[in-house]
Amino acid sequence: MGQPARLVMDQRLLLAVVLSLTLAGTEAKRSGFKRVSKAQVLGFDWKNCGKPDAPAVLQTLSVAPDPITIPGDLSAEASGTTTVELAAPLALNLTLEKEVAGFWVKIPCVEELGSCNYENACDLLDQIIPPGQDCPEPLHSYGLPCHCPFKAGSYSLPKSDFYIPNLDLPYWLTNGNYRAQGVLGKDGSVLGCLKVALSIHST
Ligand SMILES: *[C@@H]1O[C@H](CO)[C@@H](O)[C@H](O)[C@H]1NC(C)=O
Repeated sequence: MGQPARLVMDQRLLLAVVLSLTLAGTEAKRSGFKRVSKAQVLGFDWKNCGKPDAPAVLQTLSVAPDPITIPGDLSAEASGTTTVELAAPLALNLTLEKEVAGFWVKIPCVEELGSCNYENACDLLDQIIPPGQDCPEPLHSYGLPCHCPFKAGSYSLPKSDFYIPNLDLPYWLTNGNYRAQGVLGKDGSVLGCLKVALSIHST
């Protein structure tokens, strides 16, 4: 395992990583998307936002370099734990905000992207990664699962290198500062909460 996994990420998988769940479930090449020739993602930051005793917690997440250039290389490393099995249906409520003139403005849910409430995040995963096939690299190499249910336990993705290809981004994803919150829940209780912040500069 000394060799870092190196690959061209699927566009949909990439969006999920870059906006950390925010854009999961998208269909590539839809109307309302535009090709960006070159973009930079700066100042990526994250934190858990659930109660301290929340069952599902992200323990580490680091991405490099800063800024990340698209197209370009990205390396990422992550670990997390869940004290309960994460099984369908898993509610996922996303809130995506953009800073406009000093205020945080909520981006609505349009075509399943933006601030959307999903009834079952397990279905989203099945859309992004068809069940019945190997999980995409580097998950496969490290024996990490990519479909529900996720057993209780610790999960860790060692530092892995990715190449981010040219992307079609949603038309509303323009230059600026963004923040996103994802709340994962089941049967009315919160399992975990994650906040992510980043800035986008495209040319
Ligand atoms: C998601 O939002 C809906 C509607 O506001 C709410 O009823 C539900 O409790 C929320 N679920 C989570 C996990 O936050």
